[in-house]
Amino acid sequence: MSPAIGTTLSRVDGRAKVSGAARYTAELALPGLVHAVLVGARVASGRVVGIDTTAAERAGGLVAVLSHFNLPKIPGTPKLLPSLLGMAAPGVSWFPLQDDVVHYAGQPVAIVVADTVERAEHAASLLRIDCTETPAETTLDQVRDQAYEPERIFGGMLPGRSVRGDVDAGLEQARFRVDETYRFAANHQNPIEPSATTVVWDDVHRLTIYDSTQGPTATQLTVATLLGISPTQVKVVSEFVGGSFGSKAMIWPHVTLAALAARQVGRPVRLSLNREQMFHSCGHREEQEQRLTLGADDEGRLTALRHHKLSITSHFDDWAETSLQSPAVLYDIPNYEGIYRLARGNTLTPTFMRGPGEATGMFALESAMDELAEQLGTDPIELRLRNLADNDPTSGHPWSSNGIRECFQRGAELFGWAGRDPSPGARRQGRTLIGWGVASSAYPHVSPPNPQRARARIYSDGSVVVEAGVSEFGTGVTTAMTQVAADGLGLPVDRVRFIGGGSDLPNITAAVGSAGTSAVSAAVHLATTQLRDQLVARAVADDKSPLHGADPGAVSVEGGRMRLRDRPEVGEGYAEMLLRQFTPDVESLGVWTPPPPDPGYGTHTFGAQFAEVAVDADLGLIRVRRMVGVFAPGRVLNRKTAHSQLMSGMLWGLSQALLEASHMDARLGRWANPSFGDYLIPVNADVPDVVVDTVEVTDTVVNPLGVKGVGEIGIVGSGAAIANAVHHATGRRVRHLPITIEDLL
Ligand code: MOS
Repeated sequence: MSPAIGTTLSRVDGRAKVSGAARYTAELALPGLVHAVLVGARVASGRVVGIDTTAAERAGGLVAVLSHFNLPKIPGTPKLLPSLLGMAAPGVSWFPLQDDVVHYAGQPVAIVVADTVERAEHAASLLRIDCTETPAETTLDQVRDQAYEPERIFGGMLPGRSVRGDVDAGLEQARFRVDETYRFAANHQNPIEPSATTVVWDDVHRLTIYDSTQGPTATQLTVATLLGISPTQVKVVSEFVGGSFGSKAMIWPHVTLAALAARQVGRPVRLSLNREQMFHSCGHREEQEQRLTLGADDEGRLTALRHHKLSITSHFDDWAETSLQSPAVLYDIPNYEGIYRLARGNTLTPTFMRGPGEATGMFALESAMDELAEQLGTDPIELRLRNLADNDPTSGHPWSSNGIRECFQRGAELFGWAGRDPSPGARRQGRTLIGWGVASSAYPHVSPPNPQRARARIYSDGSVVVEAGVSEFGTGVTTAMTQVAADGLGLPVDRVRFIGGGSDLPNITAAVGSAGTSAVSAAVHLATTQLRDQLVARAVADDKSPLHGADPGAVSVEGGRMRLRDRPEVGEGYAEMLLRQFTPDVESLGVWTPPPPDPGYGTHTFGAQFAEVAVDADLGLIRVRRMVGVFAPGRVLNRKTAHSQLMSGMLWGLSQALLEASHMDARLGRWANPSFGDYLIPVNADVPDVVVDTVEVTDTVVNPLGVKGVGEIGIVGSGAAIANAVHHATGRRVRHLPITIEDLL
């Protein structure tokens, strides 16, 4: 039997998904269910003076109108803390409907509950909400003069400033320099399934929450904290989640509001956000700019990097996506200074969005590297290879695994980079300008601080169930864990069922930071290999077993049959033994303790991105013709789902480079394009020929299987490769995203 890990097993939940059997949170039918609709503030700054419910009450089906006037205050203190910790994780250190203050447009100011969702929406439209309005500031330009340097960002987990060497001296030594500012529009995650929560209070003390979340346990602990009750009173179920990309990583206030509403009306409540509400309820990638000063000596060796980021955050949280992390360690730069600066505005707190931080930070660095290569007259790949850090420059430790040089080599071959004429605008096919661009890709390996758990149980028919509270939000983790469990026990995949998505299951951190598969696979591997060892121990101790008295180390398992490694005819099946022993089931809990924050190695994932663009010289229209991405993500558990993850990341880089922007209407203080009609994302016709490949690296530090994760690395650098290709095609250097037709006219 060959191993299941590394194969292209199709999704085990694929049939349920395509046939509609998979139920998502907003589809659950429950007796007595009523529907809650959030009513958002129409002003971006002000106070709620009064709510007139007269007309809403005359409409049919109304159950309740809740607001700060009549809703009990929450007893808990909200705080900003990434749910990665597996702890309480509100998205914001503030909670709506506690007072009359409006901080941002769309902030919930009332909840309307009615017997159907249509009647709830209708009643919500009839509410007359009186607000005073004060001038709002919602764009970076409006607040940049109030910028400050936070001591720490990211819920206090990261310093606002990091320094090594002497950046001024390093820039002084530099013969070549790039000093430019790169600007980024705000972006929204836009998963296909909007966030939804369904809450049932079993009695006054206990509730079950069906929630679309990246972390069932994070939801459980957050709601318990905010309601001032014990986690034992809160059960969260999240069987299927229709995408997230960071928007369901923090536990946003609507989840707890649904629980409060359900308690208030004494009925099960469903609260679904509509697409427009998704734009002001679940965070976003913040509008930002990054000034980058890069210096190199005569040989093109980098001497210094100064990387300053300025971004807009809410009035209550110091949030910046961590744009400086990978650029700080990718190249061997002796003198470095990274500083986050923030300015407060009338906006919800921003949050994770796929490749959080690195997707923008690496765009800035890899654009600057391209500019530097041009100044030096050096091939852009050669410039990178000359400067790649062979050790983690922050700690001086070796990398736990790297592989980026092989990624560039393989990528250059697959793309056909050799012989590229470096001069911009040199390749023309009629009216079309052709350009090639390249960029490095990098993403930190995130190690959760808390133990990761999974449970494996075998029944006396030889079938196995494996459970862990991880969220399946479309990544294919259910399928990959089926493979890991099958190999751990020496069983075919069809004997294994993996169950995830609930707070009653063994705790796994929220699936964030590309760490989900890495964390849960380690726990599943431990649970299943321990269970295998337990079963082998039972066999060798049993005088009725053909393996009685054998050295357990000499026993291996094939297709569920334990046998002597060098005499395979001697052995018996798991099921056979368990039936004989009158044992209905045996189980094992796998507890994996992740490596500490500094395990003596730098832990990072790397890759190389290539793009070819075709630009219509008259119309400025950009088409991406082909993309090549080669990555070194450690052990690949499922080649099919990993390929999908990496490819979708690369295509999101295309989207980031050419399409995505959340436009703020500064006069109204509201997002101007909160719909799929106006917020541009690529369709199949935008998608070029994409080649995805991986190079093998063995990593013995990150976890027992050497899995580093593939969720986000695909997006990092692909936007820069496209922008660099646009420059190569046209000679036009665009230093903001998205690049639009107007930029090239
Ligand atoms: Mo992921 S964008 O870190 O939830």
